[in-house]
Amino acid sequence: MKKIWDKIFLKKEKKKQEIREENRFNVFLEQTEDKLNQKTIIDTKQKHNGDPILEFKNVYKYFGANNKICAVNNLSFTLYDNENVALIGANGAGKTTTVEMLAGITNQSKGEINYLFDYTINFQEKIGIQFQDSAYPNGLKVKHIIKFIVDVYKVDINDAEIEQMITAFGLKEFYNRKAKSLSGGQQQRLNILLALIHKPKIVILDELSTGLDISVRTKIIDFIIHYCKFFNIQILLISHNMDEVELITDRIMIMQKGQLKVDLRKKDVIKKYGSIQKLAEKYI
Ligand SMILES: Nc1ncnc2c1ncn2[C@@H]1O[C@H](COP(=O)(O)OP(=O)(O)O)[C@@H](O)[C@H]1O
Ligand SMILES: [Mg+2]
Repeated sequence: MKKIWDKIFLKKEKKKQEIREENRFNVFLEQTEDKLNQKTIIDTKQKHNGDPILEFKNVYKYFGANNKICAVNNLSFTLYDNENVALIGANGAGKTTTVEMLAGITNQSKGEINYLFDYTINFQEKIGIQFQDSAYPNGLKVKHIIKFIVDVYKVDINDAEIEQMITAFGLKEFYNRKAKSLSGGQQQRLNILLALIHKPKIVILDELSTGLDISVRTKIIDFIIHYCKFFNIQILLISHNMDEVELITDRIMIMQKGQLKVDLRKKDVIKKYGSIQKLAEKYI
């Protein structure tokens, strides 16, 4: 008898639990819907401290059979000199696709991307990228990879400066180690160093602090900010960490479903919403 009661009781409990979960899921869906219904705020009258260096004009990117997936949907924005920009948004919003088009890794399906900065042969020589994942060739040491980049880009840098850089990134003791044998955080530091060493005009940092512990992170961010200011490198930062966004950038762009929903000066965000986190919570 007891067993049957137990069974009935368990069944009821299971049903209740399912209903609770369904409710929670509905609340979640409503919240997501709310976020998508937030109004678009693009401040076209922003004061910029420099000339335009790059522009996206009505850019689209489609993927999949019959171009079913619209990863980037009519995206327009301009980047300027002396300005670091954050590109934020939920997973799948189209951030990586956007920067891959910017860097010329993939072509847009429609629209224009114009590079307005000076370059000698190819605009790509003036773009540095640190990606979320890295695949170093087998057997190459950290020093080989650095040397390779220095040679390819004909970087004007001497041994003492390379040493300063590897020291700043905490990589000095790994200089003679195979890159593949480094830990995730160490590889990440090498990725960032490689994106910066040729002093590009724009550097794309995609989830810069993945795998970095707090003590290293603070030092590296500090170095990046100063280095980029000194060599006039503009940062395009993709990040889910709003403290990092606050530290590094001057302007906040938020993407949703391939579209630009917010484009505001950081100081205006803080004035209006109190913090970048508060704005992000409304849209992401
Ligand atoms: N190579 C690809 N093939 C098919 N779909 C893709 C490809 N790359 C990205 N997507 C899709 O495009 C959308 C945007 O992706 P992505 O740019 O990676 O977003 P984010 O970087 O903001 O997370 C997602 O729906 C993703 O699944
Ligand atoms: Mg991404």
